[in-house]
Amino acid sequence: MEDLSPREGDLEPIETASCDEIAGLQLERLKWSLGHAYENVPFYNERFQSVGVHPSDLTSLDDLKKFPFTVKQDLRNNYPFGMFAVPREKLARIHASSGTTGKPTVVGYTANDIDMWAQVMARSIRASGGRPGHVAHVAYGYGLFTGGLGAHYGAEKLGCTVIPISGGMTERQVTLIQDFRPDFIMVTPSYMLSILDEFRRVGLDPRACSLKVGIFGAEPWTNAMRGEIEQAFDMHAVDIYGLSEVIGPGVANECVETKDGLHVWEDHFYPEIVDPNTGVPLTDGERGELVFTSLTKEAFPILRYRTRDLTRLLPGTARSMRRMEKVTGRSDDMMIIRGVNVFPTQIEEQILKCAGLAPHYQIELTRDDRMDVMTIHVEALENAASDEERARSASELTEHIKSVVGVSTRVVVGTPGTGARSAGKAQRIIDNRAKD
Ligand code: DLL
Repeated sequence: MEDLSPREGDLEPIETASCDEIAGLQLERLKWSLGHAYENVPFYNERFQSVGVHPSDLTSLDDLKKFPFTVKQDLRNNYPFGMFAVPREKLARIHASSGTTGKPTVVGYTANDIDMWAQVMARSIRASGGRPGHVAHVAYGYGLFTGGLGAHYGAEKLGCTVIPISGGMTERQVTLIQDFRPDFIMVTPSYMLSILDEFRRVGLDPRACSLKVGIFGAEPWTNAMRGEIEQAFDMHAVDIYGLSEVIGPGVANECVETKDGLHVWEDHFYPEIVDPNTGVPLTDGERGELVFTSLTKEAFPILRYRTRDLTRLLPGTARSMRRMEKVTGRSDDMMIIRGVNVFPTQIEEQILKCAGLAPHYQIELTRDDRMDVMTIHVEALENAASDEERARSASELTEHIKSVVGVSTRVVVGTPGTGARSAGKAQRIIDNRAKD
């Protein structure tokens, strides 16, 4: 794999600023953001008054604790435009997250917000190893989802040539990778696996393709999956994190030279970790729920937003800003199987240890005699697809999960190509418990 570490002069000054300098900038911006939300969004105004706080109560970063949280339901209650801090005419763009139930969460951007987003995305792409002049293959979905357009504007801002292919039509993805020779790809890790299958189906060697880097996010994925993809394509696999409510992709990104967690772009998004059950703030290093406050957004300021994503904050390494560990999962995705807490990422790690299994999987939950049952649907690799080999892989995976994760599961190993394929965010959990 190519060495894509940044060269002297590549970085923005703030990326290597001292922690004090960053904290000073954050405090100044935080004061502005609280005041802006309080004055222009009735929801924040009422919420602050109901708990008896005022933006002037913030004199240090630590004072942020005094302010109330915002949760997804608050955004739903103010659907569609009630959380905006500027008149509708000032909005340059609207995005929305689909949400599995009910109304989508709507977010808005002024022209300045779009510029800031492009800047943090350009920074993210550069941290991943992208350079001006590179060809960028953007296979995140374009539309109300923030992935495609977020990646697009960032890659353009960095000075790349963008191929806005969006998600889906996997055969064409492979053709264009062969013909346009992109340097990097931006796509969900699960859809990258579908693209990998297609390379193999048409008899092309993925390691011989032009890609140097994949910038993968929008869903949890493990270091084991990183190894799998890096090996298959002979390229770097780097993690990008974000959520629509905070801006979209580009809230945090790994650096290609270290791949040791994602640097949070804290000059625009202030992170905290809280206990997911009690909301009590935790210190850096402790695992809990990630909470974000926007520092510079105009149209849609967001204060102490509970993301439900579980991780911890660590000190900076390749950049001064703090890192967040790879997200283990969302608190919503935690399955409790006979008292044991299980995340899909823990299952993924075990699947990738089994030599005969492909990396595609889904977890089905059913109820049997009032007991929750977890069935893992996976599929065999071409070279391990006989009935005997599949039975062996099934018992191997069952044993790994039992001994490492601590739960008993059923494992169904299908023949190659029979499992569900992702074209965007993978649906890992199929919950059939209510239907039993
Ligand atoms: O998924 C934004 C995005 C697009 C991020 C492209 C990265 C790349 P939403 O649709 O609002 O926005 O979903 C946000 O996805 O709260 C996490 O649960 C999950 N997520 C996003 N990135 C990661 C990641 C986009 N790198 C939700 N690792 C977030 C784990 C992630 N989970």
